[in-house]
Amino acid sequence: MFNKLKYFHKHIKLGKNVKFENDKHIIMGTNLFVGDFSVLSGFGGGNLELGKNVRIHSFCKVATCGGNMFIGDNVQIGDHCTITAQGDVTIESDVLMADKINIIANQHSFHDITKPIMDQGCTSKKILIKKGAWIGINATILSGVTIGQNSVVGANAVVTKDVPDFSVVVGVPAHVVNKYDFQSGNWIS
Ligand SMILES: CC(C)(COP(=O)(O)OP(=O)(O)OC[C@H]1O[C@@H](n2cnc3c(N)ncnc32)[C@H](O)[C@@H]1OP(=O)(O)O)[C@@H](O)C(=O)NCCC(=O)NCCS
Repeated sequence: MFNKLKYFHKHIKLGKNVKFENDKHIIMGTNLFVGDFSVLSGFGGGNLELGKNVRIHSFCKVATCGGNMFIGDNVQIGDHCTITAQGDVTIESDVLMADKINIIANQHSFHDITKPIMDQGCTSKKILIKKGAWIGINATILSGVTIGQNSVVGANAVVTKDVPDFSVVVGVPAHVVNKYDFQSGNWIS
């Protein structure tokens, strides 16, 4: 059970019915905001470390699930987001995430046709979202992916491969539609 008194000196602001599970694995920075009905979970191993001025809005699930998760300073996470970190998740500072985003750092193995998929274990790979990126509404980011610095993931995209720095990706699967060209100083589509 989360002990409000233990953290009050860090200026942590909580909405209604916020749940902290296994909070000895949750390291909170100052000025944390967590909105109504969100769950932060350290179950299954791994640590969840939050930087300064992190805002996690309502109805989110942010869970280590056996991996380590680091969320950097000034990160904003919209409503109804799910982040699970079986293969580790790092979200660097100043990342802006819209609502309904899924960041899922594992896959179920399925190749053995004699067993139900739920009995075949998982493969987990790290997700890295570099500083200053913006993830659009309803996007999904799958395991093993890096999102580049100041890059944009369009609304509804499913990101299956790395996104270079300073680029815009859209679609399913996500592909680059716009990229900053340092030679000309322009965004090139
Ligand atoms: C990706 C986005 C930022 C636009 O980026 P942009 O570089 O200005 O891209 P453009 O508008 O020039 O579009 C480039 C191409 O991608 C397509 N496109 C743009 N956004 C798309 C999307 N989300 N999904 C699929 N295709 C998209 C455009 O139709 C265009 O295609 P075309 O060249 O065949 O005409 C914007 O469309 C978007 O998805 N924003 C997210 C909004 C959001 O989530 N807001 C929440 C606030 S936190």
